Amino acid sequence: MSTIKSIIITLFLFLFMAEVNAMNNSPKSDPIDVKVDSLLKLMTLKEKIGQLNQYTSQWEMTGPAPAAEDMQNQLEQIKTGLVGSMLNVTGAEATKEAQKLAVENSRLGIPLVFGYDVIHGYRTLFPIPLAEAASWEPALAKKSASIAAKEASAAGIHWTFAPMVDISRDARWGRVMEGAGEDPYLGSLFAAARVKGFQGDDLSSTSTVAACAKHFAAYGFIEAGRDYNSVDISNNTLHNTVLPPFKAAADAGAASFMNAFNVIGGIPATMNTYLLRDILKGEWEYDGMVVSDWNSVGEIIKHGVAPNKKEAAKLAIIGGCDMDMEGRCYVDHLEELVAEGTIDEALINDAAGRVLKMKFELGLFDDPYQYSNTEREKEVILSAENLAVARDAARKSIVLLKNEQEVLPLAKSGLSIAVMGELAEDKDSPIGSWRASAIPNSAVSLIEGIKGNNEQKNDIQFTQGIRLIDGEKSFVKELNFNTTDRSGFEEAKVLAQKSDVVVMALGENCFQTGEGRSQTDIRLKGLQMEFFNEIYAVNPNIVVVLMNGRPVVLGEIAEKAKAILEVWHLGLESGNAIADVLFGDFAPSGKLPVSFPVVTGQAPIYYNHLSTGRPDNGEGNVFWSHYTDAPKVPLYPFGYGLTYTNFEYSDISLDKDQISFDEFVKVTVQVKNTGKREGTEVVQLYIHDLFASVARPVKELKAFKKVTIPAGESKEVTFSLTPQDLAFYNIDKKWTAEPGDFKVFVGTNSRDVKESHFKLVD
Ligand code: NOJ
Repeated sequence: MSTIKSIIITLFLFLFMAEVNAMNNSPKSDPIDVKVDSLLKLMTLKEKIGQLNQYTSQWEMTGPAPAAEDMQNQLEQIKTGLVGSMLNVTGAEATKEAQKLAVENSRLGIPLVFGYDVIHGYRTLFPIPLAEAASWEPALAKKSASIAAKEASAAGIHWTFAPMVDISRDARWGRVMEGAGEDPYLGSLFAAARVKGFQGDDLSSTSTVAACAKHFAAYGFIEAGRDYNSVDISNNTLHNTVLPPFKAAADAGAASFMNAFNVIGGIPATMNTYLLRDILKGEWEYDGMVVSDWNSVGEIIKHGVAPNKKEAAKLAIIGGCDMDMEGRCYVDHLEELVAEGTIDEALINDAAGRVLKMKFELGLFDDPYQYSNTEREKEVILSAENLAVARDAARKSIVLLKNEQEVLPLAKSGLSIAVMGELAEDKDSPIGSWRASAIPNSAVSLIEGIKGNNEQKNDIQFTQGIRLIDGEKSFVKELNFNTTDRSGFEEAKVLAQKSDVVVMALGENCFQTGEGRSQTDIRLKGLQMEFFNEIYAVNPNIVVVLMNGRPVVLGEIAEKAKAILEVWHLGLESGNAIADVLFGDFAPSGKLPVSFPVVTGQAPIYYNHLSTGRPDNGEGNVFWSHYTDAPKVPLYPFGYGLTYTNFEYSDISLDKDQISFDEFVKVTVQVKNTGKREGTEVVQLYIHDLFASVARPVKELKAFKKVTIPAGESKEVTFSLTPQDLAFYNIDKKWTAEPGDFKVFVGTNSRDVKESHFKLVD
């Protein structure tokens, strides 16, 4: 360490101790705040701005690539303290090398913070987040996030850009796969669980990473489901539907937030003072840091709000965005903006302070290299223990959509089973989009899982039958769907004809969903329908295994297939988990976190909609809210999912028919397992506030319990509903319950419910 640097650090420690001594008299008494303030005092304006600057590495990109000269320039900037963070630098060795550049060369040696999109696993890939939400088991998401953190942190990552907590109602949007679906209550539970999983109890532990709740806000409401498009939603939707999962993430201690690409009401989210200053940092008193999305500061120009990068930087920093990801607007212009008096240096101090706070919390000032640990990297990554959790998570994420004549589970012996579809042999697609550092083609394919299934002695034959795309799968290019090659059909038909049952993998491959993968038509692409019908003509005993990242439109398959198993993109253990369910080693227990439309034109479709003034055709005429060419209800509603047994629900009993604001009502049902196997059911409770100052959804999920009931037995399931559960953002902009009548529903999904009612009184 140079002499000058050691003088500075000694001075820093001296100042720090002086501040700690004075702490009792200081308004800031958190030792980290004191350290941050001390360090800020040592920093030049340029160095503070450096902390707000984030670049990507050369070796992986998730946005438009930086120009070559910028790449060269950025190495020099790291050395001079002009870079606070890097994204996409991965691996213990690489992160250590990059860290050295900053720590050993810059004047103050402030460490970089390394960010990465660890969305559903680092190298041990878990089910995509939408799938995992189908488990209705937040504790599972917490566990998988904690394993992802363990692996990523060993590889030198300090900070994940997850969880994505955007509510999404429109399956045309490719990023539906990244969130927890359409419901703010379920979404909030998963948001909090994931934050806690990533961060653990101690951010400074080298096994945890800082979380980032994204994309703030309303990115899931982009018009027509087209990625990066505009958002124009009401304050009612913003507060009652979009913000609750963000609030839950903030309350769970999320160390950071990320802005969204979209405008909302004409104002880019990245510079949106209402969102960032009034709500997040104001009302919620959030003291973490906010990072922009990839060049979303620069995109303020494209949105037509700032004419140049300087103005964009000004608007974003005033708006409340602390760090500029790959935009180069802050590093190039903030100094000048302060010098000319356009912005106050206090804004820079606040933003830099938030970044430094996260670095202190992560323990980077104690040892900037402690995360990058090649030994630990070898030990924890892809450990048997991690893979076991990945298999458990995958099994619990599967949703049984149909099971006619109890075709599932399949017997373990005596069957000839024809397995077909390119997706059945695909070892890559189950990894899904946003695959972090997964090894390509490293998932257990469906056919491998079936062949390897425990004690299974059937005659298993595989033929590809149908190809999904022409050419290579690609993360960065548009896919060409196969619409002409039927060369595998004949062999598949011959095999199907002589088999007892066909297991057909259909759906989407890994790069059909995710960022930039919006679609106008969510029917199965290419020749898949035709292939299904050709096989159906020779053997109607078909089990469809549906792999996809978003709800898809099933068309005739929904009527014709004997069984449909929604398996999403399940991660590395996909094939094993699906086989566990197919052969009954594990009974499916997943429930849909999103509605499955009948036709694409129903999008956006969601269960918790408002009533409309003309909800039904009571008078038998055409003037009611409906379509004339398709039903208005989904094919499979939110919360839907079957298992290998059946449940019967008793009527609801309430312990009171009226509660006041300091009481709660106890809601009880008996759930009977009427089948021959033990089964797990997610018992769901919804409410409807009949009359309120603003119209309330026809149903809102408020509680659920996952219970396992032996065959023939009943279980009493009880919920307590408090006035807090009935609260919403009302006409007076207050989060409160309003007295009046409420319906309460309990059931197996959002459609099939028992109903009762009670009153809330003043
Ligand atoms: C753009 C995406 O919108 C965001 O979710 C991601 O974290 C960043 N790129 C960084 O990769």
